[in-house]
Amino acid sequence: MKYDEYLAAGYPIGSGVVEGACRHLVKDRLKRTVMRWLPSGAQAMLDPRATYLNGEWNAFWKFHTGLIGSGDTILNYSELGMASPEQSAAPDFKERTMKIAVIGIGNVGSVLGRRWVEAGHEVFFGVRDVIKAEAIAEAKAAGAALALVSDAAARAEVVVLAVPWKAAVGTVFALGDLSGKILLDCTNPLTADLTGLEVGTTTSGGEQVAAAAKGARVVKIFNTTGAGNMADPQYGGTVVTMLYAGDDTDAKTVAARLATDLGFEPIDLGPLSAARLLEPFALVWITLAYRGGLGTNFALNVVRRPA
Ligand SMILES: NC(=O)c1ccc[n+]([C@@H]2O[C@H](COP(=O)([O-])OP(=O)(O)OC[C@H]3O[C@@H](n4cnc5c(N)ncnc54)[C@H](OP(=O)(O)O)[C@@H]3O)[C@@H](O)[C@H]2O)c1
Repeated sequence: MKYDEYLAAGYPIGSGVVEGACRHLVKDRLKRTVMRWLPSGAQAMLDPRATYLNGEWNAFWKFHTGLIGSGDTILNYSELGMASPEQSAAPDFKERTMKIAVIGIGNVGSVLGRRWVEAGHEVFFGVRDVIKAEAIAEAKAAGAALALVSDAAARAEVVVLAVPWKAAVGTVFALGDLSGKILLDCTNPLTADLTGLEVGTTTSGGEQVAAAAKGARVVKIFNTTGAGNMADPQYGGTVVTMLYAGDDTDAKTVAARLATDLGFEPIDLGPLSAARLLEPFALVWITLAYRGGLGTNFALNVVRRPA
């Protein structure tokens, strides 16, 4: 029975009937791929409810019925809403619509996700709790899908980390296999009172995130200005600067393009180790905003003398 039919028949959510049915589907999938039970397998059992809420039930159902009916496991990436390895390596990677997982749906994540949907990208918000009412409402308002963090990351070619610093490294581990993906790190390793940084000078939050994100191409970006400026990076005729740093040229091209899509002027600050400069620079903005009396309606910019 399809989930919508199940609901229409009046069975309650969480009664165990659907979860029980899903367990068999997941178990079958795991057996076919000779995998042992993992936490992600257990999480997958909760996905039907999430996919139903996201309106993605048809793709989910098609995938599972196709899988059960066929002798071999042949994944159709586009039906699943996932980026295939070929797609990720395609030469138009820098220009076309992208599949973006925004991890964290707070001040930064919600704005970035909403604006990238407006720019034509496909966005999956990755959260820890897919049935939290605020997250469901936020995703719906943005026109984005909602999924558990590992599921969102699996579907995307670009993963955006927008969680508090204390959760950053743990969240990266929870993202699963990031091989070949681009990871945009927006976090700042702020102390709890927002007056200092927990790491710096000889390393950076960006480098620590990269160390945890095995196989990912990490770019530090969207950390140096407030979420209000991400919502609207134009001050009259002046465009707000977005500095970024990373070691992979293609990943930086994509990061810069996504900043341009939001209306920023992206400027490359160099290798990922330059995150050691970007994170204290973020603290300059925070200090002016919250202790310097400027509020949040300002930006720190690169300005050029006309030639
Ligand atoms: N605010 C800004 O203007 C700004 C600007 C630039 C950079 N940043 C940096 O961007 C990051 C996010 O800032 P924010 O202001 O958007 O924070 P926020 O409003 O507090 O939102 C944080 C989000 O992260 C989620 N989260 C927390 N722990 C998580 C975990 N373990 N796994 C998955 N999700 C988790 C929260 O979800 P729950 O609802 O489930 O807790 C929430 O959706 C921070 O590192 C911050 O320093 C902020």
